[in-house]
Amino acid sequence: MSDQRKRRSQNWYGKQDKDGFIHRSWMKNQGFPDHVFDGRPIIGICNTWSELTPCNAGLRDLAEAVKRGVWEAGGFPVEFPVMSLGETQMKPTAMLFRNLLSMDVEESIRAYGIDGVVLLGGCDKTTPGQLMGAASVDLPTIVVSSGPMLNGKFKGRDIGSGTDVWKFSEDVRAGDMTLKDFMSAEAGMSRSVGVCMTMGTASTMASLVEAMGLCLPTNAALPAVDARRGALAHMTGRRIVEMVEEDLTFSKVVKKENFENAIIANAAVGGSTNAVVHLLAMAGRVGIDLTLEDFEIGKDLPLLVNCMPSGEYLMEDFCYAGGMPALMKELEGILRPAQTVLGKDISSYFEDAECYNRDVIYAFDEPIKSKVGLRVLKGNLAPNGAIIKPSAATPDLLQHEGEAYVFEDIEDMKANIDRDDLPVTKDTILVLKGCGPKGYPGMPEVGNMPIPRKLVEQGVRDMVRISDARMSGTAFGTVVLHISPEAEAGGTLALVQTGDRIKLDTQNGQLDVLVDEKELAERRAKWRPTPPHYDRGYASLYIERVLQADKGADLDFLVGKDTRPVTRESH
Ligand code: FES
Repeated sequence: MSDQRKRRSQNWYGKQDKDGFIHRSWMKNQGFPDHVFDGRPIIGICNTWSELTPCNAGLRDLAEAVKRGVWEAGGFPVEFPVMSLGETQMKPTAMLFRNLLSMDVEESIRAYGIDGVVLLGGCDKTTPGQLMGAASVDLPTIVVSSGPMLNGKFKGRDIGSGTDVWKFSEDVRAGDMTLKDFMSAEAGMSRSVGVCMTMGTASTMASLVEAMGLCLPTNAALPAVDARRGALAHMTGRRIVEMVEEDLTFSKVVKKENFENAIIANAAVGGSTNAVVHLLAMAGRVGIDLTLEDFEIGKDLPLLVNCMPSGEYLMEDFCYAGGMPALMKELEGILRPAQTVLGKDISSYFEDAECYNRDVIYAFDEPIKSKVGLRVLKGNLAPNGAIIKPSAATPDLLQHEGEAYVFEDIEDMKANIDRDDLPVTKDTILVLKGCGPKGYPGMPEVGNMPIPRKLVEQGVRDMVRISDARMSGTAFGTVVLHISPEAEAGGTLALVQTGDRIKLDTQNGQLDVLVDEKELAERRAKWRPTPPHYDRGYASLYIERVLQADKGADLDFLVGKDTRPVTRESH
């Protein structure tokens, strides 16, 4: 009992006084008997279930499975809701609210009498938002992901979330697909609950969470509706109780090497560019000095997972081929030794792993492509950095110099991109401003702007496009993203004009506008920011306090953690 008395939850439920009475009595209205307050670990199940976040629609069932495991191991599970972020449903962009979710998670964990937490998330921003919040409180923490949807099907073939939407949409614009076929592909694309079944941001983040050792092995790729995911959730419930007993907190698991393993895995899975902002923000919460330059460790690594958008297959195939354990086995010797939620080195996740399909998970020595990790670009157009995903780009465009055609904001782009007289050729570099964290606000996934219709009709399917925006993890193309500082923060991007020449040198990590310094200084003297799109509420706070993309786009006052006990009572 003396150990149990030290538990955090006992400051709520272990006192024989008015405060203890109040905390216990109201919980008992749910039918909990006396003995569940006897000092056993109380496990919070932090759930982002929502019907407005279809990717997380299976999390209610998984929460029940986690609870079974917690009870079985001698803990007391309590489920609580937090804000849910439906990537495909929220306007202006779910990313605007990632930091708000993190605040909800952080303050919920801190304010309630729990000893450890299971994070149930999946859709793109829910995983990083939950991890950021949990990191700032630093209790024992473990993740159960939604899991991917079943493979999409259309006319007898597999189709992938997002990736095929972008392709079909361009085909319709080019007259290569009927609108009837386009509309009938909708239901076949999303055949079960779960996250996008391409290696989009959700499956990327789930894969990186597994490579970081923050969930049980196989969590990333098991389909959402696979019964084994329920078993994994059950076992996670058991494990979090042990983690509380071992006092294995978030910061005892996550060190710099866990982030390096995430960067290595991101290259090998052909993961989303969004992982960069999320890992940077998570590292900021734990107090780990991760910078854009650290992502360069991935640049010489090969692509091993043949999943859309960088490859052909889908997450269900990745699962059946062996999933993350089989992939990590290929990365043995490259992955850093690192602690995990199992209390063992990350190598324990893959020591018995086997690959069952070499079309899906390639061997390290015979990769799909070599040197495909994300590249960091710097230069006068991105003094603090920008990124590009070579595995999703057209190889010939990675070294490119061309004339800029500039869209001042998203409305300008949408209104003019399909003009018959748009003065662009396949060599033009499309530039989009006003889509960074402050400018949009929330840094939406619009960086892969559409190819102008007149060029689509000529058969052009890729061009160099640059912006301060992000790109969906399911998207592809030669797209430079996350330019920092963004245009709205007065970055050089704000000064680029149509007709300027821009040079993209991916090999040497350079991005420059070929305009002399004097001319840029004259333009800068005349530049003024646009008035913010919001003047009240959270969005206004976000615009004022958001950090730039190279710092993870967190709010400046959320960086770091606060693990002090809350001593004051409410009555
Ligand atoms: Fe939710 Fe892709 S939209 S995971």
